[in-house]
Amino acid sequence: MAQKSTNVHWHEGHVSREERESRRGHRGAILWFTGLSGSGKSTLANAVDHRLHDLGLNSYVLDGDNVRHGLNGDLGFSPEDRTENIRRIGEVAKLFADAGTFALTAFISPYRADRDRIRETAGRPDDFVEIFVYAPLDVCEERDPKGLYKKARAGEIPEFTGISAPYEEPSAADLTVDTAVHDLDECVEQVLRYLVANGYID
Ligand code: ADX
Repeated sequence: MAQKSTNVHWHEGHVSREERESRRGHRGAILWFTGLSGSGKSTLANAVDHRLHDLGLNSYVLDGDNVRHGLNGDLGFSPEDRTENIRRIGEVAKLFADAGTFALTAFISPYRADRDRIRETAGRPDDFVEIFVYAPLDVCEERDPKGLYKKARAGEIPEFTGISAPYEEPSAADLTVDTAVHDLDECVEQVLRYLVANGYID
């Protein structure tokens, strides 16, 4: 992105990230759920959010369909718009992490380079946890919760991910959950176990 604004200066907050995290009793981080439409990203992110909330931790879900109503309402599904969609979400998620909160993002985020850029520019190297929400395309298509695969097959939605637009699977996801094999509770446990094993939560 070309920087258009000039004469703007980054202000270090007076309350440091460490102070915020110390007050909250846990660190902030980005839990980045990526996968095909219908793979279960939103369902899983919201269920994990619920668990973190019940544990008394600060967390918030940024969800594709919701964010596209507001912040990213001006963006469509061309490759350029998807990249911009993910760039903005990445920036918002970084702010959440800096505020000492778990940001759970549920976007297809089909391009590896876009996801990698967020990891590279995050405040700390381990701020970005890439969670590949996997289900085979035919399973996602069978679920078709919004009826979009059917429309895409009928040629009514151009550039539909998995049908007429690409999805680049993570090459080194921090965690892969297979929602075709495991039920929701098991997938939530896998994420929680990862967070405990890697020191994100106690
Ligand atoms: S992303 O590719 O830019 O990351 P995002 O997660 O924000 O996509 O939005 C995906 C959601 O938009 C899908 O779950 C679906 O409901 C809807 N959608 C509408 N058109 C498309 C399309 N062409 N490709 C994929 N999803 C689409």
